[in-house]
Amino acid sequence: MPGVVICSKNGDVGIREAVEVLRRGGSAIDAVEAGIRPVESNPDDHSVGYSGLPNLLGQVELDSSIMDGRTLATGAVGAIKDYEHPISIARKVMEDLPHVILVGTGAERFAAEMGFEKKDLLTEEARQVYEKLWTEKFPEVYGHRERYLDRMRELVKHAADPEKPNETVNFIARDDRGDIACGVSTSGWAWKYPGRLGDSPIIGAGNYADNRYGAAACTGRGEMAIRAGTARSVVLYLKMGMSLLEAGTEAMKDLHAVVDPYIGSMNIVAMDAGGNHAAFTNSEGATYVFMTTAMKEPEEKPRILVPTPGLTR
Ligand code: GLY
Repeated sequence: MPGVVICSKNGDVGIREAVEVLRRGGSAIDAVEAGIRPVESNPDDHSVGYSGLPNLLGQVELDSSIMDGRTLATGAVGAIKDYEHPISIARKVMEDLPHVILVGTGAERFAAEMGFEKKDLLTEEARQVYEKLWTEKFPEVYGHRERYLDRMRELVKHAADPEKPNETVNFIARDDRGDIACGVSTSGWAWKYPGRLGDSPIIGAGNYADNRYGAAACTGRGEMAIRAGTARSVVLYLKMGMSLLEAGTEAMKDLHAVVDPYIGSMNIVAMDAGGNHAAFTNSEGATYVFMTTAMKEPEEKPRILVPTPGLTR
């Protein structure tokens, strides 16, 4: 089986780099990091890294995690500001600390200690989207945001980027030694309450890899994946003997038990231990991308549709 990489659709800007790492004999974990970094730098992607849409206070806060299926080693950062590549910081957490997750100022302190450069992540375009929504919804308190947090909490309930609600990037790679790794990076739910973590830095919710069975990662409304333990469920269903198709479908069906007025989009990319892959969604028309070391260009494939009752958008 040649090396293979799969990713969410917005990962197409990085998948060639990830495959190139595998072609050079690099590891699955190196491929995942290499694939996600260009997505984090993409100014046209308002759901990940630089130019991500900000939180309620207009600050870009990022979440990310990485997991190595060889050892179940993992690292994550949450609600981190001013660093463009949280995936690389998450990897450093995994490799340099006896911890798994760092958040907020602790994550920023660690990034500085590890030599990562600070960067202002709020682009003019993202700022304008934020200001427009704010001035349209609450013109009377505009300019006094800190004093009107009670009004602003209403903003949390509004859809994020109308074109890409709750986007995030997922990568899963399997190298030619059969090792599997996965990574996730996001700016999370636009206009989120400051400090909110989605599923992306929560191992088992938005990300999980185990060489013996496979890997899964999620995009969509993170609160749902956290409540259902979605990524780990896929891998556990594989362990229990289900096929990849059955495991992903069952994890999507688990979301039916989530009772919530904000049921939103949910998407899973998944791979089994043999490198077979599939992706699942509750939204019509969603796709994912894959590329093997034997392919010249990536290919886009439809996700398997598993509708969620009560989907609001
Ligand atoms: N799935 C990304 C988030 O909810 O933050």
